[in-house]
Amino acid sequence: MAYEVKGVVARSKGAPVTVETVIVPDPGPGEAVVDIQACGVCHTDLHYREGGINDEYPFLLGHEAAGTVAAVGAGVTNVAVGDFVILNWRAVCGQCRACAKGELQYCFATHNAAQKMTLADGTELSPALGIGAFVEKTLVHSGQCTKVDPAAPATAAGLLGCGVMAGVGAAINTGAVKRGESVAVFGCGGVGDAAIAGAKLAGATTIIAVDIDDRKLEWARQFGATHTVNSKATDAVEAIKGHTGGFGVDVAIDAVGHPAVFEQAFYARDLAGRVVLVGVPTPDMTITLPLIEVFGRGGATKSSWYGDCLPSRDFPMLVDLYLQGRFPLEDFVSETIGIDDVESAFEKMHSGDVLRSVVVFK
Ligand SMILES: NC(=O)c1ccc[n+]([C@@H]2O[C@H](COP(=O)([O-])OP(=O)(O)OC[C@H]3O[C@@H](n4cnc5c(N)ncnc54)[C@H](O)[C@@H]3O)[C@@H](O)[C@H]2O)c1
Ligand SMILES: [Zn+2]
Ligand SMILES: [Zn+2]
Repeated sequence: MAYEVKGVVARSKGAPVTVETVIVPDPGPGEAVVDIQACGVCHTDLHYREGGINDEYPFLLGHEAAGTVAAVGAGVTNVAVGDFVILNWRAVCGQCRACAKGELQYCFATHNAAQKMTLADGTELSPALGIGAFVEKTLVHSGQCTKVDPAAPATAAGLLGCGVMAGVGAAINTGAVKRGESVAVFGCGGVGDAAIAGAKLAGATTIIAVDIDDRKLEWARQFGATHTVNSKATDAVEAIKGHTGGFGVDVAIDAVGHPAVFEQAFYARDLAGRVVLVGVPTPDMTITLPLIEVFGRGGATKSSWYGDCLPSRDFPMLVDLYLQGRFPLEDFVSETIGIDDVESAFEKMHSGDVLRSVVVFK
């Protein structure tokens, strides 16, 4: 029997989100239904609402979530009813050309639930990032459930499902930050601060936070930034060179996803350094760079899809580090809110009042 629950839906481009009745089918083969306990509000949800991802409205928003498995379909063996799980959007297929090369973190054919959740009138919903978790129960592929230690509170653990993992992974996986290296992180929202915390975890000794909002820079220090630069008031590239003996950083991470910021990151790194783009640009954005600079500066420019993470490897590891007091997962939670408050959480995100608002379900 299908479940009837409440969820947050974006019906059309730019329109405020609404709380709607969502019909969640029983899990089919390989699928699981999860009781959502908490789901963070990520900038990507706002990108969906604004039509920045695609126009397959209506969207069921939310994708940074943790909860308990409520039901599993035939053939599911990786999780069982009652397991505490973080949802992921990288259920690797094991068979595509990336997986065949052993590069599972790039899997080009990740699994999502085969069945659709719908509105009460039968309209099919597009779940954000194949999850859709601002909802009391959601339907996912069982591979999208990663079992972790239930000692972690869902409000914090859920954030590993997207933004925090993307940021940490941008530093430790994509950027491969090493002990003693210097790192600059542009944009100190949830993703950028996670990149700062990841750089600290990896042993970086100089961590420069760049933002246009002084409050964000204050928070960035708490996550491990050793220096801060307000790029509204100061030339970020020059300031970063000033903190690195005139050379620039080993790893520059753009956690905004804007051409002007990417350009700063590109020029703020040392010769042979790495530039990592983890912020998501909109389709209309373009960038022009002198090709001689691309060549002459050497190193690498890389995109970081979901922090190049493997959920099965990285989620339990980060939860364990958190429970050991070595990773400040809880500090990303600025406030807990109800399901009716997602629209105002978007506004708070815009005005820079929060790092993460997290929707909690009873
Ligand atoms: N690559 C991935 O897999 C992945 C995953 C999750 C989120 N993201 C993306 O990461 C980006 C950041 O997400 P978030 O949730 O941290 O967003 P956020 O809105 O919380 O934070 C963005 C930060 O960037 C700062 N900023 C804005 N313009 C700036 C500029 N010109 N220079 C410096 N700082 C500037 C803001 O003040 C804010 O602190 C978004 O684009 C989001 O879609 C990517
Ligand atoms: Zn694959
Ligand atoms: Zn996200």
